[in-house]
Amino acid sequence: APERSTRLLAAHAPGAVEEAARLLAAGGLVAFPTETVYGLGADAANPDAVAALYAAKGRPAFNPLIAHTADAAAARRLGAFNADAARLAERFWPGPLTLIVPFTGGEGVCDLARAGLDTVGLRVPFHPDARALLAAFGGAVVAPSANRSGHVSPTEAGHVMDDLSGRIHAVLDGGPTPVGVESTIVDCIGADPVLLRPGGLAREDIEAALGRPLRLPMSESDAAPLSPGRLASHYAPRAALRLDVDAVEPGEALVTFAGARPPGIEVAATVLDLSPTGSLTEAAARLYGALRSLDASGVSAIAIVPLPREGLGEAIADRLARAAAPRPSDPEMPQ
Ligand code: TXA
Ligand code: MG
Repeated sequence: APERSTRLLAAHAPGAVEEAARLLAAGGLVAFPTETVYGLGADAANPDAVAALYAAKGRPAFNPLIAHTADAAAARRLGAFNADAARLAERFWPGPLTLIVPFTGGEGVCDLARAGLDTVGLRVPFHPDARALLAAFGGAVVAPSANRSGHVSPTEAGHVMDDLSGRIHAVLDGGPTPVGVESTIVDCIGADPVLLRPGGLAREDIEAALGRPLRLPMSESDAAPLSPGRLASHYAPRAALRLDVDAVEPGEALVTFAGARPPGIEVAATVLDLSPTGSLTEAAARLYGALRSLDASGVSAIAIVPLPREGLGEAIADRLARAAAPRPSDPEMPQ
């Protein structure tokens, strides 16, 4: 049952950002837009606020959170940046990139937010409302995606309300998020940077800046405890998903791309093209909204055509694979 009423604050209304910052400082939970997805923010230094955040999301507390700061200088005070991390921060912040580095931030990000790890995930978003909120608040703000754990990430304030209304203090509404998939996560702990999660910054751009390829985690099971966002069954809609289809089954909703018309399209319950012009950037921006609207329409199965894997196609393929993975509630899954 809802424990409180959640305020919807229009980001551009006078005083809205200051009010959101005040709620954070008081230990409250405030969802806010970033360029990737809406984040559910809490004061990174306040363990009670972070505990409430895990509870509101229904998120396991062994899954660490990303600390967001208003600028790179503030992020640099929270971690030890090797040459690769420094180069990536310089080149891509503010932007949709999270760097995992050794934690040096003292009281700045509490143990609970880091799930007890001696490393920290840091990000400087470029979304103007996020930057304004972070600047007004002053400290680091931890923010996972503002959805119930395991569900599709929110790209509009309304998605946040659908998942978390009654569980959080406020949502700062800054309209739809432009990138639409979560940040790319790069581990800069060891000698070679590792791509932990493909995301809104394309791997090709990162590798060009580094002058060498990113390493991949040795295996999914190696990566899973480090970056639980990589676990199977994440980012999942209610409807069943069928990926890389070459034909549509009767009654399925069809998600297509670049005007592709697979056989059986005429028996689809509905057809949604992620980008009629074939832009992977547009497809990423529309992906989660498409899954949520198809869920809301009540279809029980969604078929998705193959999409190209380059650029943001890598993040799209990663999220779709997780959305299609067996669910914890499925009978064949251990509970
Ligand atoms: O775009 C984004 O990154 C969004 C917006 C709100 O910034 N946030 C987001 O947070 O996607 P979340 O909590 O849904 O995903 C964060 C991922 C998790 O998979 C977590 O395991 C990983 O980052 N992570 C955080 N700290 C880590 C650490 N020290 N080592 C390895 N992985 C870490
Ligand atoms: Mg998430």
